[in-house]
Amino acid sequence: MRKPFIAGNWKMNTTLSEARELTQDLVEHMASVELCDLAVCVPFVYLFAVGEIVKGTKIVLGAQNLHWEEKGAFTGEVSAAMLKDFGTDLVIIGHSERRHIMGESDEMIGKKLRRALDAGLRPILCLGELLEEREAGTTEEVLRRQLEEDFKNIKGEDMASVTIAYEPVWAIGTGRTATPGQAAEAHEFIRHLLAGMYNSAIAQDTRIQYGGSVKPENAYDLFKEEEIDGFLVGGASLSAEDFSKIVEEALRARDL
Ligand code: 13P
Repeated sequence: MRKPFIAGNWKMNTTLSEARELTQDLVEHMASVELCDLAVCVPFVYLFAVGEIVKGTKIVLGAQNLHWEEKGAFTGEVSAAMLKDFGTDLVIIGHSERRHIMGESDEMIGKKLRRALDAGLRPILCLGELLEEREAGTTEEVLRRQLEEDFKNIKGEDMASVTIAYEPVWAIGTGRTATPGQAAEAHEFIRHLLAGMYNSAIAQDTRIQYGGSVKPENAYDLFKEEEIDGFLVGGASLSAEDFSKIVEEALRARDL
């Protein structure tokens, strides 16, 4: 069975003191959680402070982006080696806000994925369709393109370190969650694609998180779907109480 994996994505939020307080609260709330992997993906500038607090706890430290080159003249960018230096274990790659606001292409995302893996970082690769793509019936086409292009240079043996997050863009920060059925259908399709790109064992073992307006109120129903292995939580991860309720509800849905 794939172990549940729930990660928070703070995006560009919190001050340093809020980041510290939120992390302390999370550590306290999560102390007794055993059967779920947990992570927080925080802004670069808070990696050090948050890393100090989560050290030795079950909460894994993650970043939200990296550059694909090893080092050099890339003003304002952060390398994989720098992230490793801060004790970062995970990195979100290809978030829809980076694809659609910052203009990242599948080619860039593919290079970032390769760099992260080469540096020993575990990527959470995000993909998902826009509202107009869903309405036009092209969701599967979009997921196929993203997956095939992003994973072009990723081998089967790399996949044990990779998590995929299905995040339909229309559900992010909108309060409009995908129905459990819609999410499960997309996850199943992603798994079907992975089986073709790699093999069925890899498709079965790869963890696929759902992200998009996950809250304590919908976590149970979503997690009832076997295809959903975890969540990537945005807004609700800024409250330790909400985040821990999401974890609780998810584990309750699986009788864990
Ligand atoms: P929300 O949970 O705020 O909708 O954000 C989801 C997300 O983008 C996580 O990466």
